[in-house]
Amino acid sequence: MSDDFFFNPFDEATRRDPFALYARGRARRAYRHPGLPVVSIFRYADVIEVLRDASLFSNVFPPPPGLGPEDMLPPNMLGTDPPEHERLRGLVNQAFTPKIIRRLEPRMEEIAESLLDAALRERRVDLVQALTYPLPVTVIAEIIGVPPEDGPKFKHWSDELVASLGAGLLGPPPPEQLAHTQSVVRELAAYFETLVELRRGEPKEDLLSGLVAAELEGRHLSFDELVQMLILLLVAGNETTTTLIGNVALTLLAHPDELARVRAEPERIPSAIEEVLRYSSPVQIDPRCATADTELCGEKVTKGEVVISWLGAANRDESVFKDPECFDTARKENRHLAFGFGTHYCLGSNLARLEAQTALRVLLRRTRDFRLASSDPLPLHRSFVFRSFTKIPLELEPA
Ligand code: HEM
Repeated sequence: MSDDFFFNPFDEATRRDPFALYARGRARRAYRHPGLPVVSIFRYADVIEVLRDASLFSNVFPPPPGLGPEDMLPPNMLGTDPPEHERLRGLVNQAFTPKIIRRLEPRMEEIAESLLDAALRERRVDLVQALTYPLPVTVIAEIIGVPPEDGPKFKHWSDELVASLGAGLLGPPPPEQLAHTQSVVRELAAYFETLVELRRGEPKEDLLSGLVAAELEGRHLSFDELVQMLILLLVAGNETTTTLIGNVALTLLAHPDELARVRAEPERIPSAIEEVLRYSSPVQIDPRCATADTELCGEKVTKGEVVISWLGAANRDESVFKDPECFDTARKENRHLAFGFGTHYCLGSNLARLEAQTALRVLLRRTRDFRLASSDPLPLHRSFVFRSFTKIPLELEPA
């Protein structure tokens, strides 16, 4: 297609406000990134078509140049296709069902309350440090069974790993970045090795003990796979939910009428969270690798090329959502794709939803008002995969 559409997902202005470009992307359906083996798609129906076809659009990507499979840990569930994927996901699925997750609510509430106690003593806080990071990291650490005092270490590891997410999609990642990522994975593997040893000797009632049992029985899980699973849960479970809770605060602040409505009607909290997931989706992209030559949205795609589904664009598709550019915390029909779709649909969606609902409920209950404490542009996350800000300075007025 020849027009003047140019879409550079690394461009800072685009990252801060991509929505006009997303609309143009939806109008033209597909976009081949100039000179790259990468095609982006933007429409809801097209994204569904790609994400539901795991045999043509795979989650297995070739290793980065210079690295062979022997240099890498085995893939986690996110990096496998069926049937391998079912084996890995099946080992942890039961820990994340809606029923099991609902049982965690009182504990989440307790953690959020104590974080708000501390934040309200300060009054002026960075919401990321005060609430959006420590809540999910504490919850996932307790589910897995890692000592909560190691939270700061995970923040560091998780930051380092997600910073490079997506870097290899639009060109080879710089070798020094690859080496750094590898060294962080080695540090994490060493950390988990010690914990696994402890559980082998003395199992507890936690997910880690369950996984160690599977590993010990040699049933389904090798030690390296176990380490990969733990890294995935920690990283996927933290950064995304931290981002969601931050986006909840920021989107409500940008829409004061909606904030007032949610304050007045707390029963709106669940639909408000769904609306933030749609309107300001924490994860903006979902990439796949074509397993055969094909045609997609009028664009030829060759085997091995990357197809990027723009979830943030699909979630504003006018053919699916009524007034998609309008932020409406009472929206009824809201089948957004913020957690993906199909085989790899987010394992932690129930957990993330409940954490965000709890965080917002406690924030509203404990404050009369909150406002941004700075008019400077907020710092963007290092990876373009996320729609996320790494610092959110807020002034809190206690209730
Ligand atoms: C707002 C928070 C979250 C968002 C926006 C989010 C988003 C996503 C998305 C878009 C995918 C699909 C990736 C793909 O199709 O390749 C995914 C998968 C996944 N998510 Fe989440 N996620 C969130 C929270 C969590 C939490 C709390 C956990 C912790 C358990 C988690 C664990 C996973 C795992 C393990 C997968 C891979 C599932 C598979 O391959 O079958 N996520 N997530």
